[in-house]
Amino acid sequence: MRSVAFHIQKGGVGKTTLSGNIAALACDSKRVVLIDCDPQGNSSSWFLTETPRHELADVLQGSISVKQALVSVRENLSILPTFSLDGALKQYAETRLNDEPFIFEELVGELALLGFDLAIFDLSPGMSRLEKSVLLAMDEVIVPLTPEYFSVDGITIFNNELGKLNKNFRRRVRFDRIVCNAINHSFRRHREFVAALQALDYELYLVPQDARLAESQIRHQSASEYDHQAKAVPELRRLANALVSS
Ligand SMILES: Nc1ncnc2c1ncn2[C@@H]1O[C@H](COP(=O)(O)OP(=O)(O)OP(=O)(O)O)[C@@H](O)[C@H]1O
Ligand SMILES: [Mg+2]
Repeated sequence: MRSVAFHIQKGGVGKTTLSGNIAALACDSKRVVLIDCDPQGNSSSWFLTETPRHELADVLQGSISVKQALVSVRENLSILPTFSLDGALKQYAETRLNDEPFIFEELVGELALLGFDLAIFDLSPGMSRLEKSVLLAMDEVIVPLTPEYFSVDGITIFNNELGKLNKNFRRRVRFDRIVCNAINHSFRRHREFVAALQALDYELYLVPQDARLAESQIRHQSASEYDHQAKAVPELRRLANALVSS
């Protein structure tokens, strides 16, 4: 099983949108699980239409099994949800997580035993203990960015953070793919930003600005389910295919 997180220390750049859409496209050919590691629970409220009985925090606290908390949302796609009402994930992250540094590695191992081929982790924008613990358990982290001034610096900051984590914890979490999200090619500053990214040594995915992405989320659908001709779908599919074949 491959484990992948979409992450950067910046809010609103498409971490949830990419996690959910890539999960929904990859499940055409693989068994996929989407793990909602954001205490805000955005990917859960996107894919679930009713409040689940259990959540990720219950699994981490050991009160139920992973299997009990999984919710099947499509054929070959399950979600391990978080719903924010009582902030259980945040509370776990601020208390017990400190003494349980390998909890997400254990979770990844259990998901693999359940037969999943791909686990996608949606994270909140911080770099607190929760995000670090998840990142350390990943095979790969993919960084989403939007074409804004200063966001190229965000790559350097993230790369340094991950480099430190890899060194200090003797891990080899890979970071060589970037998604530039919500590009509008009619804006010169967007074209310039893309050109700056192309000069860097990363595998680059260029996802256009597409209102269909937000519309589909309101309807509890992925972009390709909502409109298979949506502008953003081909590039999302290219990334999903790269993940399932690597
Ligand atoms: N390519 C795109 N075109 C248009 N809108 C987009 C695109 N990608 C994401 N969005 C919209 O931008 C908003 C922020 O996206 P999203 O919630 O995925 O970001 P995030 O990085 O997960 O945010 P947070 O840091 O709060 O978790 C959402 O309303 C989403 O529908
Ligand atoms: Mg999010």
